[in-house]
Amino acid sequence: MQTKPLDIELIKQHIEHQDINNVWLFDSLDSTNAWLLKNGFCGDVCLAEQQTAGRGRRGRIWHSPQQGNLYLSLKYCFNEMPKHYGLLSLLVGVVIAKCLQKEGLQGHGLKWPNDILWQGKKLGGVLLESKGNLKEIVIGIGLNVAMQEQKEIDQPWISLNQVLGCEVDRNRLVGRLLSALLTRLQHFSELNFDEFVQEWSTWNLLENQLITVLENNRKVTGRFAGIDQQGLLKLCTDNGNIQKFSAADVSIRAMN
Ligand code: BTN
Repeated sequence: MQTKPLDIELIKQHIEHQDINNVWLFDSLDSTNAWLLKNGFCGDVCLAEQQTAGRGRRGRIWHSPQQGNLYLSLKYCFNEMPKHYGLLSLLVGVVIAKCLQKEGLQGHGLKWPNDILWQGKKLGGVLLESKGNLKEIVIGIGLNVAMQEQKEIDQPWISLNQVLGCEVDRNRLVGRLLSALLTRLQHFSELNFDEFVQEWSTWNLLENQLITVLENNRKVTGRFAGIDQQGLLKLCTDNGNIQKFSAADVSIRAMN
């Protein structure tokens, strides 16, 4: 199936927001995150049809072939450091999950911190990066929309088109994602923690699950016991203690 190309004018038709600066679209880039970190102004959006050095969380590669997927980054600048800054990447996950629901997807959810999964298979991910000033953040989103066979990917994955059985309008999806994201970012400083946890929990695939947390060479097993005010994962271990983990340090395996 040949996917329709991304098109800046079509994307803009679906953006209901004033806060976008420039939308940059490239055939091929090393990484949309890297490009914005180097060249982007606040409110700039960068998209590419292909990334030659796509970056994933924890130094991993994000395989980014030219097959009609989404490689999207937004540079966002906060005036003040938001109180719940640590929840930002979780919030981005929620925005994506909701947008995909609007596209007709069902049965998807979030694996902390922000893997988007459908029936245990990875549909997408989020990578937040900054140059040091945390108020200026690049939010990178990768979504498998039309991905075809990729031998290099070492975990189960799936494409949106495959699940939906039709071709997603990527231009509309980008416009809707950006509009929804910017609306939430504008109000991020006033985020109510309890309300957010309630919202996030409806997407959380790890609720009460027995999981193994891999931190450097250490494996800790326990039951997922929620998140704290900074988005750290709380793990209830065998002896009933709660241990906290940061997304930067761990990867998670669900055990059941
Ligand atoms: C993850 O490891 O799950 C996060 C993947 C994030 C990939 C996106 S694609 C657009 C942006 N540019 C990058 O180089 N990475 C992010």
